[in-house]
Amino acid sequence: VEIDLAATDLELTGHAHYMYKEILEQPERAAAVIRGRLDARFATARLNGLNLSPRELRAFRRVKFLGCGSAYYVGQIGAQLIEDLARIPADAEPASEFRYRNPIIEPDTLYVVVSQSGETADTAFAVQEIKRKGGTVIGAVNVVGSTIAREVDGGIYLHAGPEIAVASTKALTNMAMAFGMFALHLGRLHDLSYADGERISNALKAIPEQIQEILDSEPAIAAIAQRVAKAENAFFIGRVRQYPVAREGAQKLKEISYVHAEAYPTSELKHGPLALIDPAMLTVAVVPDDELASRNIAAVEQVRARGGEVVAITHEAVEFGTMAIERIVVPKTEPELDPILLIIPTQLLAYHAALVLGHDVDKPRNLAKSVTVE
Ligand code: G6P
Repeated sequence: VEIDLAATDLELTGHAHYMYKEILEQPERAAAVIRGRLDARFATARLNGLNLSPRELRAFRRVKFLGCGSAYYVGQIGAQLIEDLARIPADAEPASEFRYRNPIIEPDTLYVVVSQSGETADTAFAVQEIKRKGGTVIGAVNVVGSTIAREVDGGIYLHAGPEIAVASTKALTNMAMAFGMFALHLGRLHDLSYADGERISNALKAIPEQIQEILDSEPAIAAIAQRVAKAENAFFIGRVRQYPVAREGAQKLKEISYVHAEAYPTSELKHGPLALIDPAMLTVAVVPDDELASRNIAAVEQVRARGGEVVAITHEAVEFGTMAIERIVVPKTEPELDPILLIIPTQLLAYHAALVLGHDVDKPRNLAKSVTVE
């Protein structure tokens, strides 16, 4: 194992907060996680740390992601990437729930544990439980040589560099990037075509620069955050691939700004939460330019019709007509990878809302960077 710490990695280097510094580092760190791992010749990804042969990997009939907090939400993104690209059933579960429910460990399921620190007690226990029952478990871990990294059968290091702020940003982005590569790799072992492999691989390569484009629009996002900071309650809504984006967005806002935020699948709005929409409820809607755009726009219309304010995190091509809403536009990538970019504005929204409210951004009350106790 090699740990490549630059002298400036643990310092603020002139920034007001670690969280902000870590947000800004994302283009560079996202480039680091894919460096040397994309194989142009076979339109796949090379992940040497997995310790699983192609034959062994092909034999898995299910993939299960386990993590806590934000790592669990990114696990949901990973599961959808696996289903999209490899067409293998995949899901995610909080490691904290998994460990307490006598889970059925199946030999043809590949378990993927997700952890920035590699020290989260619930996730580490899940690893031990899986191994005790003879299962195969790999890790997506940032901290080299951490407890979880040492105990798994193999894995993907995230190369995000040290993350100090309690609210995770760059590590999450690199988890999603790593799952993009992992799903590409698994997909190419199954039925993902060469052309589709190239499509995903090229899109992954473009992401670091696209993240920079979003960061360049920070002043506009900061202005919208002023409004978010005034909200007492917020809904984050997103559909299918974007539901984990909504969950992570709500998580960030509640963690550092203490604004009450909840995430719902957009499709569930009419099954309950719509009752709470009024002018005092802010809704952050994730509306990508994809096959579900018209349904998502219709949901935004319903919120507006009840007087609710809306911030849409969206793509240039999505048209909201004359609806009075705030738009945050992110660059388009391939539909499977859209969540990676759509998450980025939620970091800046939460960060600037917390600043407006005068909270300790790097050390939110009641929370720890890694929960190493029961
Ligand atoms: C804590 C932190 C969360 C983090 C989670 C998982 O609860 O407050 O922000 O997502 O742990 O941490 P890990 O290091 O395992 O990714």
